[in-house]
Amino acid sequence: MSHGNEQIFNPAERVAKISHCSSMEQYKQMYDKSLKDPEAFWGDIAKNFHFEQNVTGKFMDYNFDISKGKIFIRWMEGAKTNICYNCLDRHVLAGKGDQVAFYWEGNDPADAEVVTYGELLKEVCRVANVLKAKGVAKGDRVAIYMPMIKELVVAMLAVARIGAVHSIVFGGYSADSLADRMLDAQASVLITADAVWRGAKLIALKEIADDALKVCQAKNVKVKMSLVVQHMKNVTAPQASSNGTANGNPSKKTHFDDKVGWNSGLDVWWHEAVKDVSSDCPPEWMDTEDPLFMLYTSGSTGKPKGVLHTVGGYMLYAATTFKYTFDYHPDDVYFCTADIGWITGHTYVTYGPMLNNATSVLFEGVPTYPHIGRFWEIIKKYKVSKFYTAPTAIRALMKFGDEPVKKYDISSLSVLGSVGEPINPEAWMWYYQIVGDSNVSIADTFWQTETGGHVITPLPGATPTKPGSACFPFFGVEVALLDDEGKEVKGEGEGYLVFRRPWPGIMRTVYGNHERFETTYFKKFPGFYCTGDGARRDKDGYIWVTGRIDDMLNVSGHLLSTAQVESALVEHPAVAESAVVARPHAVKGECLYCYVTLAEGNDFTEKLIVELRNKVRTKIGAFATPDYMQLAPGLPKTRSGKIMRRVLRKVAVGDRDFGDISTLADPSIVEVLFQHRPKEGKV
Ligand code: WT7
Repeated sequence: MSHGNEQIFNPAERVAKISHCSSMEQYKQMYDKSLKDPEAFWGDIAKNFHFEQNVTGKFMDYNFDISKGKIFIRWMEGAKTNICYNCLDRHVLAGKGDQVAFYWEGNDPADAEVVTYGELLKEVCRVANVLKAKGVAKGDRVAIYMPMIKELVVAMLAVARIGAVHSIVFGGYSADSLADRMLDAQASVLITADAVWRGAKLIALKEIADDALKVCQAKNVKVKMSLVVQHMKNVTAPQASSNGTANGNPSKKTHFDDKVGWNSGLDVWWHEAVKDVSSDCPPEWMDTEDPLFMLYTSGSTGKPKGVLHTVGGYMLYAATTFKYTFDYHPDDVYFCTADIGWITGHTYVTYGPMLNNATSVLFEGVPTYPHIGRFWEIIKKYKVSKFYTAPTAIRALMKFGDEPVKKYDISSLSVLGSVGEPINPEAWMWYYQIVGDSNVSIADTFWQTETGGHVITPLPGATPTKPGSACFPFFGVEVALLDDEGKEVKGEGEGYLVFRRPWPGIMRTVYGNHERFETTYFKKFPGFYCTGDGARRDKDGYIWVTGRIDDMLNVSGHLLSTAQVESALVEHPAVAESAVVARPHAVKGECLYCYVTLAEGNDFTEKLIVELRNKVRTKIGAFATPDYMQLAPGLPKTRSGKIMRRVLRKVAVGDRDFGDISTLADPSIVEVLFQHRPKEGKV
């Protein structure tokens, strides 16, 4: 039954047989109920969790129509709960304390550790008590800048336990980015680690964090404590250090502690702080709409937005999407490769799995270290049944062919998830046939930092999938496609992807800037939450997300705004103006193509190019390093001064078919830009 990339793949039988939702009829029935009677649907789900106090007001209340007043979303008014209690105490009290929560797998295969729910509860309480003793109270913001180690999970749960708000900053961000986020959140405590090996590369987290703390100090934001995990002492250093940062003492544990700078009065070693501290700490009972965490995501103005999620709705949504999208069962071993520093890690490494009492793999390393079969080796080692990764990783591993996968018995796999960007059908097919041995269900999950959890996804026991389509909305999510005028596109067609009503896990505000929340997501189409993505609905009702329709780009599944990169570039004194566009990239999905106009008296030299790339690395982070840098004697602007980005996207790929350029103030600039294209493969 082949219709090109509209070929249909039915759910794997072994998944459907035991699935929580095992047919499209059941999906439709549950979906209809979730829209017709959200209170009954989510109220039933809420019964599986501990609420210290039940709902006293409206179960759901909201306004999505900015023309009628302030945008707000509230779920389970009056109820009280604690998400940490639901992730830990609830299971321990049910006799599941000895169950493995995480198999920690280090960057080096020699390093591995097992941690149970019972052990985590004790450690979480100790850290919660340490934070309380430092005066951290309900509502205070705690910044977390850590590697993928169990202490990161402990830190976030400890913060949640005492009702404080965690703001996790991915360990690949630069000191400037960390400082920006700490300042915006007015964080009073930072939790970090000495350093971490990522593949053969050393990331000196504490050194970077110290630079960020200096910036905070200079801006008079008082940080009370920097709590530091001593991690390097316990891990194996890479065999041969490629960048000269290792000890030159292959395969020995690294004694890194004597190398970290120390700020007395501010820095506290984690292991010393928790010694002799009580492992008993009652949870703070939170209103369902109290903040749980904030997580920064790129905004089109260049200043990142602190996406704020609240306790109750996020809890229900993280738990429910995890259960249904991965069709989780108690004997599963689940492995999500995302870093906790991104939303995928928040919802599908920590909260979703733990709320379901799941057993997961927590992986510190990278897919290609020490060899290109590392993922498959880990899957075999722990008999992983549910696996969740990103198209960029799939494409990177695909390049090495089938043999590195086939070397390992990974037949335990039954559900394979994908997230971060549209997955191209070739990568989908390889994932399905080679990794899944054509005996799995694939879940291409569409969602955003803002949505808290999956909003469009197949269910692995129910949905016949089409490679490249995220298929159908999750329970409680009402999808619409709108045209430029805001008119709804019904049936087959393409338009702006929007949602008509809130589901429990949607963000509630932009931290400290509710107006920005309203204008970013609700202003364009009153009555709808606007994703910023475009989508197509096919004749069978399948949704195909086509990508961003704003000035955002998606590098390896990470959103960046062009404005963010441009503002980093123009900080260099040699740069007068810059414009950044996305260029398709075989592995990353998209990469950065930068045009720079130089200030008088500067030359576009190799040295300048290196400086400009470094500027972006230090302002944002290494993952944002531009792939292309081109001199632009001028930029293609309309008479009103707006840069015509589609022209720049065409020049970036060497395509002269740029359509109508008659509205440009100076159309001849397009040919000039063509002349200045860098040679292929060269930055
Ligand atoms: C943007 C959100 C959700 C966690 C990771 C990224 C794109 C994400 C898909 C998918 C097509 C996707 C969208 C979205 N995106 N998943 N399955 N199919 N596009 O979170 O950084 O908030 O980015 O990623 O463009 O808006 P994020």
